[in-house]
Amino acid sequence: MERCDALARHSELAGGLTRVFLSPENRAVNELVLGWMREAGMAARLDPIGNVAGRYEGERPGLPCLMLGSHLDTVRNAGKYDGMLGVVTAIECVDALHKGKKKLPFAVEVFGFGDEEGVRFGTTLLGSRAVSNRFDFETLKAKDAKGISLEEALLDFGLDPKLIPQAAKKNGDVFAYAELHIEQGPVLEAEGLALGVVTAINGFSRLSVALGGFAGHAGTVPMNLRRDALTAAAECVLAVERIGRGQPELVATVGKIEALPGAINVIPGNVTFTIDVRAPRDDLREKAVASIVSEIEGIGKKRTIGTKVEKLQSQGVAACAGWLMNQMDRAVAAQGQRVRRLPSGAGHDGMAVRAIADIAMLFVRCKDGISHNPAESIAAEDADAGAKALLHFIENFAIGK
Ligand code: GLV
Ligand code: MN
Ligand code: MN
Repeated sequence: MERCDALARHSELAGGLTRVFLSPENRAVNELVLGWMREAGMAARLDPIGNVAGRYEGERPGLPCLMLGSHLDTVRNAGKYDGMLGVVTAIECVDALHKGKKKLPFAVEVFGFGDEEGVRFGTTLLGSRAVSNRFDFETLKAKDAKGISLEEALLDFGLDPKLIPQAAKKNGDVFAYAELHIEQGPVLEAEGLALGVVTAINGFSRLSVALGGFAGHAGTVPMNLRRDALTAAAECVLAVERIGRGQPELVATVGKIEALPGAINVIPGNVTFTIDVRAPRDDLREKAVASIVSEIEGIGKKRTIGTKVEKLQSQGVAACAGWLMNQMDRAVAAQGQRVRRLPSGAGHDGMAVRAIADIAMLFVRCKDGISHNPAESIAAEDADAGAKALLHFIENFAIGK
């Protein structure tokens, strides 16, 4: 809990927590985490995409690893546990092995992924995708709000984008990936349980929409002659909500919107906004995305507003592996807790890592299901139970069983 507090002190937002990829705050937490990893007996380094990577050797040097970790970046005005709890807990577990002079028949690697949230460049899982050999080099051109490209930001951070392929694990390097994360939902709390075993991570689609109308004088242009991009956007936002409500398992969100030129006395000529769609079934999500795109185009046509919909990124449902869920069930049961399996509505690094290894996730209860909000809160006893379950999982990890 103290380490989560320490990480949360590195923020670009005074009085709150915002820490985006390749920022000065990101650099500061990397240094902290590298130090903690080394204290816990790991060889630790920054990898070529800017992940913090620690390795605790097994009975012999060079064995394939059990990979643990989570992310160190945050959303805007974030809570201090989303991502960070998984990193510090994994380090605690390795520290326990190290203090007990315990070596396992596999290595343990801990990752503090640099970018999971995708806040700065609009494309998520940059760190874990590089490790999983799924980095899309087109994303090097993606720009942040200041017009700085990912490529420039990496170079400014002292990283060489040409070396990103070296961040990738090779076939056979990783036996499995396990991530502890706060639940970010209300299920465990409602059932009075500290821990849960994740069955699958819902898929997501991210889109960016640009609407082009015509800017004009707010006092002189009659209402029937306007091509107001913001009122068109308002209709689009409501259409996204309506489609999201159309199926109980579907969610759809417009999280960011900008109207230009952005003055009280000017009819907005241009609007851009984002859309995030999630579902536990890929067909459901793909159908919803198609309906949203056709609604937006229809609204544009009706209002003589130009529409450009860009599909930024999508990721299918990522199932956790049965053999790992069984081992995680046992780790939870060993804490004297009833085993509860549940899906994850939020995205996680495991979605990317699943390309190279089977994945498992352990959820820790959070207060009122609140996350992506500064009110995010967990109980120290729950974090402790999570750490003990994760350590049990590591110590009893049996490859492929
Ligand atoms: C990441 O936290 C996401 O689910 O957006
Ligand atoms: Mn998050
Ligand atoms: Mn997270």
